[in-house]
Amino acid sequence: MARKGIVLTAGLGTRLHPMTLAVNKQLIPVYNKPMIYYAIWVLIKAGCRDIMLITSEADKSGFERLLGDGSHFGVNIQYRIQYVPNGLVDAFMQAEEFIAGDPCMLILGDNIFYGPGFPAMLAKAAAKTEGATVFGSIVPDPERFGVAEFDESGKVLSLEEKPKQPKSNCAVVGLYFFDGKVMQIAHELRKEIPADQEVSITDVNRRYMEAGTLDLQVFPAGFAWLDSGTYESLLEASNYVARVEREEGRIICAPEEAAFRAGFLPAEKLREYGEADKNNGYGQYMTRLYNEVK
Ligand code: DAU
Repeated sequence: MARKGIVLTAGLGTRLHPMTLAVNKQLIPVYNKPMIYYAIWVLIKAGCRDIMLITSEADKSGFERLLGDGSHFGVNIQYRIQYVPNGLVDAFMQAEEFIAGDPCMLILGDNIFYGPGFPAMLAKAAAKTEGATVFGSIVPDPERFGVAEFDESGKVLSLEEKPKQPKSNCAVVGLYFFDGKVMQIAHELRKEIPADQEVSITDVNRRYMEAGTLDLQVFPAGFAWLDSGTYESLLEASNYVARVEREEGRIICAPEEAAFRAGFLPAEKLREYGEADKNNGYGQYMTRLYNEVK
């Protein structure tokens, strides 16, 4: 059964002020498409058709204007508000009714993924029926992220959120697959951790680690994981996408293309989108795809 997907976009984006004073971080562009497109692309690649986007009260209308009910991408998108940005587990918990005890996947709206072997990694995580899967990326600055320490067999030994002295250089990225127990775990943690402290997503993953049901998949060399949360990393992300698109001669991470390839959209839609957007490269790419597959 396809998983439900949750995407978080309700942070304040203060690290990108003043860019994000009037516009949600996930609505600003990474090269030629809004940042949120990259997360939607991942969800569709993983086979998700039912998606809940968690955002702030002020930003909901912007996302609705951009993504609507998701039918443009052949998916269903629902919206839910996190009124106070009390952390990403709190945001995730807003999706409790939507998840309704089913397995799900969670993606942070400011994470971008592109590289070899990704569909197979997603398929493996989606097929796991019990426990959770996290993904690791080897980085020079692990102290900025959740960090996983693991042994030669890949077994996770420890998980820490933004440690001052990281035990490894493996950052745990903003993409998680959970079984149906995740909300119960989140509620338990919320009770145990003092109310003035955030429950971190690393706390949730640690519970799975302790139960021996956590898988870690580390991205291979050459895989790009881009966290577009600072001025520099946002610019790097745009430059990366522009360079890859120039080199590969195609648009990457287009949700419409993923949706077509997943069988969520008929080829005819690509023709329609190309027709409607004749004067830009994105629309021209839709027409090109249509001509290749018709
Ligand atoms: O990017 C990967 C990292 O993301 C992980 O390595 C960390 O373990 C994880 O905690 C997270 O750290 P960040 O410091 O990058 O999280 P940030 O506060 O930037 O929030 C990430 C996303 O979650 C962002 O798209 C907005 C959303 N969010 C955040 C908060 C605090 C919400 O929807 N509501 C919130 O209250």
